[in-house]
Amino acid sequence: MHNKSRRKFIKLSALSAAFLGLPFSDSHARDEVERRIASITEQPLARGKSVMGLKFAPMKEVKVAFIGLGMRGPNHVEQIAGLHGKARVTAICDIRKEKVDETLAMLSKKDQFPASYSSSDFAWKEMLRRDDIDLVVISTPWADHVPMAVYAMQQGMHVAVEVPAAMTLEDCWKLVNTAEEMQRNCMMMENVCYGDEELWVLNMAQKGVFGTLTYAEAAYIHDLRWLMFDKNKGYYDQWRIRHHIENDGNLYPTHGLGPVAQYMGISRGDRFERLVSMSSLEAGLTAHSLTVEADNEFYNRTDFVHGDMNNTLIKTAMGRSILVQHDVVTPRPYSRINALAGTNAYHEGYPSRLSIKGKDSHNWLKEDDYKAMREKYKHPIWDRLKKQIAENGGHGGMDFVMIYRLIDCLNRGLPLDMDVYDAADWSVVIPLSKLSVELGSLSVAFPDFTRGKWEGKRELGIMAEV
Ligand SMILES: NC(=O)c1ccc[n+]([C@@H]2O[C@H](COP(=O)([O-])OP(=O)(O)OC[C@H]3O[C@@H](n4cnc5c(N)ncnc54)[C@H](O)[C@@H]3O)[C@@H](O)[C@H]2O)c1
Repeated sequence: MHNKSRRKFIKLSALSAAFLGLPFSDSHARDEVERRIASITEQPLARGKSVMGLKFAPMKEVKVAFIGLGMRGPNHVEQIAGLHGKARVTAICDIRKEKVDETLAMLSKKDQFPASYSSSDFAWKEMLRRDDIDLVVISTPWADHVPMAVYAMQQGMHVAVEVPAAMTLEDCWKLVNTAEEMQRNCMMMENVCYGDEELWVLNMAQKGVFGTLTYAEAAYIHDLRWLMFDKNKGYYDQWRIRHHIENDGNLYPTHGLGPVAQYMGISRGDRFERLVSMSSLEAGLTAHSLTVEADNEFYNRTDFVHGDMNNTLIKTAMGRSILVQHDVVTPRPYSRINALAGTNAYHEGYPSRLSIKGKDSHNWLKEDDYKAMREKYKHPIWDRLKKQIAENGGHGGMDFVMIYRLIDCLNRGLPLDMDVYDAADWSVVIPLSKLSVELGSLSVAFPDFTRGKWEGKRELGIMAEV
């Protein structure tokens, strides 16, 4: 650190210590806070060159393997299985044999008979030692994403990993460093970036409809209490609720934040610079725990630490700000908010509404004007794939568009729409928000996973198709 910025940093830290209620004389506590905050932006040594714009020779038929066949994984398997000639299901794996058998039964109806692996913690490793896999799709509990993705890349495979890609800062760097070292794709499967509404807002943002972008709101608001407690039909080994015993912060930021990051060109001319985070008290899971069966491990628990509502505010290098919310325990309708503000327009989702400067901007656009804007700025991929979207669906069609784009880019030898830097930038909000909450909502800086390459303007692949 230069002397000037070091002096500024120490002054800020002293102020922070004061905010935290630490006496300035408590040098040990102050040093510890300083050390933890400063360590976030330290960059590990790069192990290879940047994978921005990484391209490969066109793959005629992409050979795909799958790990994790719970509530999410089989949808990906089915969609890939439907892309005849473009992709093929080579092998599938789940620790639970019954999940493998269910997926094999679904595939056999399509006359597809991939190899299968199950019944051990490490059956997936055995599968990844095959030599007929180009791409591995990972849909396992969060804690498994990074070890599985890293091992797959080390075997020379490309990776598409479910959201969030990683839960810790160290793991975000592991993904970036391994992708660079092995020169492999590691895409986080942020399906919401392919939503009809999100691609339309993105197109408007890029065409200048919003003017200068200033602010956005994103969220994951989804009442998951029933699913998190359910030990039979819910998550494998109730993995999700366990995170609420251990972590307080924004545990699932990417559905709302991914599209916003694309509107704002994060790592394509702008970057997330710092955040502050604050959680409400915890009450929802404790109250709900009294309503579940007495033999449920989470019956009558009082040790949940995750606040019911987490608000995280991000500042970008270009001065924009973003509110990201996380609430999975309140009885309220589903929302990702999807709000975007600029000098000339404002959009808000749930339901989608638009207001434009000069057109009575105190009010939302009237239905006909709104429809005209939808028509004028819609992303053509939704029309082009209309029939397949109707047949395959998945969260209203966005899942299919994502899978289609992933395979189509590999078929055509194009860079993927989302790279490992996007995966790390969007996922790192988890550990940074946790740290900020722990330190009394102190401001925490983002690491620069691109190592300075974020400043260059780069076109998003999906927008080259407009
Ligand atoms: N993008 C989206 O819209 C979306 C929607 C739902 C879930 N997800 C993500 O998908 C992932 C999976 O979520 P889910 O709802 O399917 O959970 P789930 O618990 O239903 O499925 C996880 C599966 O992984 C298997 N598994 C666990 N350990 C394993 C191991 N060592 N080897 C092989 N298999 C193992 C489990 O048996 C289970 O079938 C999560 O990351 C979640 O966040 C994303």
